[in-house]
Amino acid sequence: MKLYACPKDENNSEREYENMDDKKTGFTSKLGFVFAAAGSAVGLGNIWRFPYLAAKYGGGIFLLVYIVLAVTFGFSLMVTEIAIGRKTGKSAVKAFASLDRRFSFIGYIASAVPIIIFPYYCVIGGWVIKYLTIYFTGQGAEAAADGYFDGFISSPVSPIVFTCIFIFLTAVVVLMGVQKGIEKVSTVMMPVLVLLSIGIAVYSLTIDGAWEGFIYYIKPNFSDFSIKTVVAAMGQLFYSMSLAMGIMITYGSYMRREDNLEGSVRQIEIFDTAVAFFSGMMIIPAVYAFSGGDKDALNQGAGLMFVTLPKVFDTMYGGKLVAAVFFVLVLLAALTSSISLMETIVSIFSDKLKVKRWVICVCVMLISAEVAVPSSLGYGIWSDVKLLGRSILDFFDFISNNIMMPITALLTCIFVAFVIKPKTIEDEVERTENFRSKKLYRIMISFVCPVFLVVILISSVIGYV
Ligand code: PFF
Repeated sequence: MKLYACPKDENNSEREYENMDDKKTGFTSKLGFVFAAAGSAVGLGNIWRFPYLAAKYGGGIFLLVYIVLAVTFGFSLMVTEIAIGRKTGKSAVKAFASLDRRFSFIGYIASAVPIIIFPYYCVIGGWVIKYLTIYFTGQGAEAAADGYFDGFISSPVSPIVFTCIFIFLTAVVVLMGVQKGIEKVSTVMMPVLVLLSIGIAVYSLTIDGAWEGFIYYIKPNFSDFSIKTVVAAMGQLFYSMSLAMGIMITYGSYMRREDNLEGSVRQIEIFDTAVAFFSGMMIIPAVYAFSGGDKDALNQGAGLMFVTLPKVFDTMYGGKLVAAVFFVLVLLAALTSSISLMETIVSIFSDKLKVKRWVICVCVMLISAEVAVPSSLGYGIWSDVKLLGRSILDFFDFISNNIMMPITALLTCIFVAFVIKPKTIEDEVERTENFRSKKLYRIMISFVCPVFLVVILISSVIGYV
């Protein structure tokens, strides 16, 4: 009889079970799993990153490409990762190793991605905390003034202090353990976040001049299409759905075997894409309204949300209160994502080093705080430092999203298509129900994804983006 390991318990120890049916899981219900995985997926990627990329890469055409990629590519990769996790009951490195020893290196490459993302993610998380304090201390009008955001991110100390607070909050929840922390927070917060985003998005549309921006956002203009749009949408897809970095493998390892895997993936995807869509709708029409459709305003990149939303709140009746609630929810969304990032990093090291989990947590917290400093200073006193023509934060974002994630995704597809074969994944999906998109899955994972990923990688590397 084959021996399987159960997923990590709270002390991160692994016990061997003779039979997978005895597997102890971290989630107590299917919805708990969906909300927790959606909690990892829905975060700053949806609310901060998606709108500025959509604004920059042609609005409607970016949205269309993104949705097509989500239901084909994103779906196939997420099914693969969660199935690998649930089948093996292990996190990335050990999961690949247990399926085929020679391929554990894929797990290592995947694991490097959260290590790169986590510090700069916390810098943006710090910006969110700053805006939260602004609205709680009644300075909303100042935040709506031109130049406020640039003044804040270019100062040497304040953004770093907020980054450290964000890292500390993340570390506290990670120390509390999977079930108590992540599951509870996500279950309450997700639906509220979606509703509030819809409310603000609808309000945004009522601002004078916003309608034109809304049309720009939803109506694809095919003359804006280029390989850049696809590369950017693909990087965003990985980032937003927490794919190609081992995270969904870890989450899959906590999933109950009696739950419907395909249905869960669909729900996570719908959640994630809905939040991204409404975030774009909150921000892009408003940018149009305030700038009169100026291309430079649409192109301003990372600061878009922090520059535009305060202006929206400033025009809104009761806007200060809405802003305060909104930034609390964004902070929670950012935290559930950063928790999953840190949780992954901590498990990688606790698998390798025989050191207590809390010691590793503290080390990860301190090292990340230090590594985050250059990303933050890159917008201020180190703004002259350019890596591949990008600011330091953008450089880490580019390396993780446009290079390492496509590599991990490509290796994963090759691994499934030629080593373990798609049937292994399909069987795992079919433990409970018919795999309805089996044909699509097979074609995607064996042919379309690998070819497409090679094209994406080549265009990233030769500097199309
Ligand atoms: N998916 C998260 C977001 O959209 O904000 C970001 C993220 C979380 C990326 C966890 C990577 C990760 F491991």
